[in-house]
Amino acid sequence: MDDALPSKDTTPVWRVVPYQTATPSELIVNVREVLPRDRSVIEAGYAQLSDRSRRLRYLSAHQFLSDAELDDIVTNDGYHRMALGAEIKNVDSAPSPVGVARYVRNLEQPDEAEFAITTADEFHGLGIGMLLLGSLAKQAAFVGIDRFTALVSPDNGAMLHILQNLGGTQEGASEDNICVTLPLTRSSRSYPDNPTGRRWKKAFGLTRLVQVDGTSD
Ligand SMILES: CC(C)(COP(=O)(O)OP(=O)(O)OC[C@H]1O[C@@H](n2cnc3c(N)ncnc32)[C@H](O)[C@@H]1OP(=O)(O)O)[C@@H](O)C(=O)NCCC(=O)NCCS
Repeated sequence: MDDALPSKDTTPVWRVVPYQTATPSELIVNVREVLPRDRSVIEAGYAQLSDRSRRLRYLSAHQFLSDAELDDIVTNDGYHRMALGAEIKNVDSAPSPVGVARYVRNLEQPDEAEFAITTADEFHGLGIGMLLLGSLAKQAAFVGIDRFTALVSPDNGAMLHILQNLGGTQEGASEDNICVTLPLTRSSRSYPDNPTGRRWKKAFGLTRLVQVDGTSD
C-alpha cells in the first residue's frame, strides 16, 4: 500500500457520539451508530420501503436484504465501514427507525469510500437525509477519507440535487447510473453557502466525535 495513504495502523478511529436534534418540522430525531442489535429493525424497515426507494438505493429491484448485507450494515469498525441510523423519538413507544447512511472504504484507494443512504419514504424531505449524511461525512473525514463516491440513478433527483449542491462532481455516466464524487473535509467551512450546504454545516456542528482512546474533536 502507498505510504501516503491512510492505514488502519496509523489513523485513529473516531466514533460519532449519539445526539438528538429537532428537524425544521419539529420531529425529534436521534442519530447514532448502527449496532448489531439493530439488525431486525433494519430488516423490517427495508421491507417497508417503496419499490422506487429500493431501486434507487440498489440500482435494481432488490426486494430483501440478504443475511450478508444485514451483517455488513450492522458491523462497523469506524475505519473500513461505518453506518449511522436515525430514529424518531415517540412519546409512548420505542423510537422508530427512519434512515440509515453508511460508507465502505475502497480497499484499492483507502482515501475514498462509497456511501449509500436511505430514509423512510414517509419521512422524505424532512431533513433526515442531510443530518445522517453530514454526520457520516464528518466521521469519514476524521478517519482519513477524502472523498465519498456514489453510483446514482439518473432519475434520482433528490440525491443528484444534494450532491450537486454540496460541490459533488459527476465523473462518469451510463444509461443506468451516474458516478458522483464528493470531496470531504474535517471542517464544514469550505462547503457551499446554499440551503443544502447550510444544513450540512448544521449536521457537522451537531456531530461530536470521540477517539477510541477518549479524545474528543
Ligand atoms: C435521497 C434521500 C436519502 C434523501 O433523503 P431525505 O431525508 O429526503 O433528505 P432531506 O430531507 O435531508 O433533503 C435533502 C435535500 O433533497 C431535496 N429533495 C428531497 N426529495 C427530493 C426530490 N424528490 N427531488 C428533488 N429534491 C429533493 C430536499 O428538498 C433537500 O434539498 P435542500 O437541501 O435544497 O433543502 C431519500 O430521498 C431516499 O431515501 N431515497 C431513496 C434511496 C436513495 O435514493 N438513496 C440514495 C442512493 S445513493
